[in-house]
Amino acid sequence: MTDVSLGMPQLPAPDYPPEVRARLEADAAEIISRYPGARSALLPLLHLVQSEEGHVTRTGMAFCAQQLGLTTAEVNAVATFYTMYRRKPSGDYQVGVCTNTLCAVMGGDAIFETLQEHLALGNDETTEDGKVTLEHIECNAACDFAPVVMVNWEFFDNQTPESAIRLVDDLRAGREVEPTRGAPLCTFKETARILAGFPDQREGAVAASGGAGPASLVGLRYAKGENPQARVVHPRPVSAQPEDAAPRTTDEAAPRTPGEQPPGTHPSSHDAPQETSASDPAHPAGPTAEEGE
Ligand code: FES
Repeated sequence: MTDVSLGMPQLPAPDYPPEVRARLEADAAEIISRYPGARSALLPLLHLVQSEEGHVTRTGMAFCAQQLGLTTAEVNAVATFYTMYRRKPSGDYQVGVCTNTLCAVMGGDAIFETLQEHLALGNDETTEDGKVTLEHIECNAACDFAPVVMVNWEFFDNQTPESAIRLVDDLRAGREVEPTRGAPLCTFKETARILAGFPDQREGAVAASGGAGPASLVGLRYAKGENPQARVVHPRPVSAQPEDAAPRTTDEAAPRTPGEQPPGTHPSSHDAPQETSASDPAHPAGPTAEEGE
C-alpha cells in the first residue's frame, strides 16, 4: 500500500491485542447476523470499533474490512463520509452546539463563541484533559427547544451561554449532569456501543424517548384548525389594498363552489398553498380527458 500524499509505502495497520480482537469478533458476528448481507453491517461495525478506541482508527477500519469482506478503501470511504465517526482521538464528551439557522438566531452562535473562548478551543478541538471536544453541529430536529446543545447526542435544550459554561465545567469536573430529556448521559465510547446496536441497560434509558415540543404541537393544532385562539393572518381585503396593488387572480375573483372557503380563512392558510389544482375547478387534479384516452 502506498501513501500517495508522501509517496511512501504505508505500513499495514497494527492489529488489536488478541483478547480485544476476540471480543470484537464475537460482537461483530452478532451484529452481522442481523443483516441479510454482511456488508450492510458496516455502519454499526464502525460504531463498534469506535466504542473500543473512541475514534475510528486504521486498525478499526482494517478489522471492519476483514469481517465484512470489503476493501479498506471501501471502509475508509464510508468512515470519512459520516460525521458521527471521529477520525482522531477526541474527548469523553462531545459537546455539539447547534449553529443551524434557528438555533443560531436563538443564541446558538453566541453559545458556540462563548464556549470557544471559555475552553480556548476551536471547532473539533479537545481540551487537554481529554474530557470535552467542542464542535458545531447541524440541526438535530430539536428546533422546538432552540438553542440546543448536544452531549454525546443527548439533548440539552434551551441553553444560554451561561448554562453552557456550567455544563462543560461540570463535565470536566466529573459532576453528574442530566440531559433535559432522553436517556441518561454516558461517555462517548459507551454511546458508540449503544449505536452499534447493543442494548442500553441503564435505568431510565428505555422510557426516555421524548416527543414533539410545545411549539410543534401548537403548530399541529393550528394546521388542524383545532385551536380557536389561533391567530389567523388574513390577506387584506381588495378595497384596503393600494390602487397599484396586484389585481386578484382569476381564481380569487371567480364564484366559489358551495362549501369552498375564500382564500385566507383557513387557520393555516397563511402558510399553505392557496391555489392548487385540487382546489381549482378550472384545473381539476388527475389526467385530462386527452391524457386519459
Ligand atoms: S436548528 Fe438547532 S435543532 Fe434545529
